[in-house]
Amino acid sequence: MNDFKSIGVVHSPFKVSVGMPIQPVFAEGAEGTVEVLPQYADGLRDLEGFERIWLIYWLHKAPPGPLRVIPFRDTTERGVFATRAPCRPNAIGLSCVCLLAIAGNVLTIGGMDILDGTPLLDIKPYVPKFDAFTNSRAGWCDRSPVTSRTHADDRFAQ
Ligand SMILES: C[S@@+](CC[C@H](N)C(=O)[O-])C[C@H]1O[C@@H](n2cnc3c(N)ncnc32)[C@H](O)[C@@H]1O
Repeated sequence: MNDFKSIGVVHSPFKVSVGMPIQPVFAEGAEGTVEVLPQYADGLRDLEGFERIWLIYWLHKAPPGPLRVIPFRDTTERGVFATRAPCRPNAIGLSCVCLLAIAGNVLTIGGMDILDGTPLLDIKPYVPKFDAFTNSRAGWCDRSPVTSRTHADDRFAQ
């Protein structure tokens, strides 16, 4: 398998995982920046015009965890691959954030659920025609009794 390398770093108002939003949809007003390493900056060409982008990153502060977890928005143990829990065999995070501005190699983003200093692995445009399946079933999430939690507690903290 090819090695992954960091293409940049996420600068975020969130310095600790406890108390921060658990998904971009709960992170209205949370603004930060993505600093892309200069050698990758040419790859940002034509990104302006996309309202949202996918950020793919290493959840670098996530400790190793079990294959079953109780997700933030549930009270029942679930297989980790049926959740968005940060502790997973490959600690890859995926966030669809608002792209607010581009200045050289720095993107200003909004609606972020990412810790400060997080290593960035990739950026992709969010394309509604490809990415939005609005009426899809969502397994246990559709039945979960925990619908009010929007911010992290310490269950997955280091
Ligand atoms: C539930 S995960 C979801 C992340 C992403 N939206 C996803 O679905 O893959 C978000 C939580 O992970 C934690 N987190 C964020 N950045 C992290 C990092 N770099 N290392 C470890 N934990 C992180 C915070 O507690 C945050 O609330």
